[in-house]
Amino acid sequence: MATRVSNGLFVFVSSLFILLNVSISAAAEGEYVLTLDSSNFSETVSKNNFVVVEFYAPWCGHCKKLAPEYEKAASILSSHDPPVILAKVDANDEANKELASEFQISGFPTIKILRNGGRNAQEYKGPRDADGIVTYLQKQAGPASAEIKSVEDAGSVIDEKKIFVVGVFPEFSGEAFENFTILAEKLRSDYDFGHTLDAKLIPRGESSVDRPTLRLLKPFDELFVDFQDFEVDAMEKFVEVASVPIMTIFNNDPSNHPFVIKFFNSPNAKAMLFLNFSSELADAFKSKYNDVAGLYKGKGVSFLLGDLEYSQGAFQYFGLKDDQAPVIIIQNNNGQKYLKPNLEPDHITPWLKEYMDGNLKPFVKSEPIPEADNEPVKVVVADSLQDKVFNSGKNVLLEFYAPWCGHCKKLAPILDEVAVSFENDADVIIAKLDATANDIPNDTFDVQGYPTLYFKSASGNLLQYDGDRTKEDIIEFIKKNQDKTSQPDPVKAEPNSVKDEL
Ligand SMILES: *[C@@H]1O[C@H](CO)[C@@H](O)[C@H](O)[C@H]1NC(C)=O
Ligand SMILES: *[C@@H]1O[C@H](CO)[C@@H](O)[C@H](O)[C@H]1NC(C)=O
Ligand SMILES: *[C@@H]1O[C@H](CO)[C@@H](O)[C@H](O)[C@H]1NC(C)=O
Ligand SMILES: *[C@@H]1O[C@H](CO)[C@@H](O)[C@H](O)[C@H]1NC(C)=O
Repeated sequence: MATRVSNGLFVFVSSLFILLNVSISAAAEGEYVLTLDSSNFSETVSKNNFVVVEFYAPWCGHCKKLAPEYEKAASILSSHDPPVILAKVDANDEANKELASEFQISGFPTIKILRNGGRNAQEYKGPRDADGIVTYLQKQAGPASAEIKSVEDAGSVIDEKKIFVVGVFPEFSGEAFENFTILAEKLRSDYDFGHTLDAKLIPRGESSVDRPTLRLLKPFDELFVDFQDFEVDAMEKFVEVASVPIMTIFNNDPSNHPFVIKFFNSPNAKAMLFLNFSSELADAFKSKYNDVAGLYKGKGVSFLLGDLEYSQGAFQYFGLKDDQAPVIIIQNNNGQKYLKPNLEPDHITPWLKEYMDGNLKPFVKSEPIPEADNEPVKVVVADSLQDKVFNSGKNVLLEFYAPWCGHCKKLAPILDEVAVSFENDADVIIAKLDATANDIPNDTFDVQGYPTLYFKSASGNLLQYDGDRTKEDIIEFIKKNQDKTSQPDPVKAEPNSVKDEL
């Protein structure tokens, strides 16, 4: 019954995507969305070429918000030719769990597009408002690649702010063209595709090509790249790499959002520079940072430049203060962070070099160590974790909590009572750590939700407490697991006090 820790870095991105959220409308539960369950799922899907299935859970708020929009989209699409069928499955229902696991559903809502009688399943990556759903699905239900026969065609299918992949062929047949079609089918939910016989119709790049060519148009860096290996995997890899900007921009421009998502999904270490885009030095920063990003391209680090104005979530997540900006932070794949506050343009190159050479010391987010710590439950922060918990020689019960967590608020007075009951036992400390404001060494503590309670005995035994959160049970657990420290404690001289020790 712990509150789940929310999804790491994505927390701060999500605040930016309010734009994409749907409005709650009062539309009644309708009849256009088919309800499917394990008894009739296969039958319905196998009969149709194009079925969209929402896996939802009754308690999920985002699903409730989506429902009226999804229904509205289903009603509009019911007259589409050929038909586009929208369905839903209650993945929380025990009877449908197997279905949900078959489609690897791990969050709600998850929407899948099933083609060819269900033989091909793709993630829905479109918007969540009715009009957006309709536009996206109409496109998904059509051909994966649009033929470009004129400059007008090109103008209508190529969005200059997005990635567009176009295949140029001497004829629409042959292995290269077939492989291109496979690629377009495979990646259609992520990129827009087109094909043409005439390179002159494409807005960028050489206007004549003498052999099949894949041309990727992008709104950043070199603006287009050509590729001529039509092996499917090679093309897929090319598209993945070529569609990542040297430097991802994080601001309020929605056309940047797909690249921000890509940035956070990347397996690379992540360098993030936050500064006020309106400041005088912004251009100097951008140009230096872009140079460095270009220099380290392909070396395992991705680069993001964020506007301070829209980076409050990131600042909270990393425990940064506005007066530290301009600031650069690198988070590597072991969760270690490196920080340089009050950055100047000329610091960027040498600091990155120090990072690449492994000369920087990781940064640990911590609240200040409190000066007075007089309450029964002691306050531990990242900077005092070693001294107060590991090197204290005491038995310590440590609560990891979040200020907003209801279960933690309920536990607080109980922990107070536990602490009071051990007040005369100098061997036992009850402590708490705000896990949202302090980094926790995750190789030591596995904190998946709040509150999480750990007990470290005086001799260093570490146990997670997963008993009931009552005063009695917690006290009993501590008494059972505590070690006596070297200093005898007069209050605990009664023979009974050690009866529960192992
Ligand atoms: C599938 O079966 C459920 C009951 O098991 C029913 O409520 C639902 O309407 C059925 N859906 C279709 C499309 O037949
Ligand atoms: C098409 O793709 C297949 C499989 O990826 C590959 O073996 C073949 O060489 C490709 N054809 C061309 C013309 O690149
Ligand atoms: C950014 O700088 C501009 C101009 O100096 C200023 O008006 C604005 O308040 C700053 N924004 C932030 C978030 O500090
Ligand atoms: C600690 O967290 C990092 C990043 O969040 C992760 O890559 C790493 O595997 C974690 N380590 C352990 C022991 O869980």
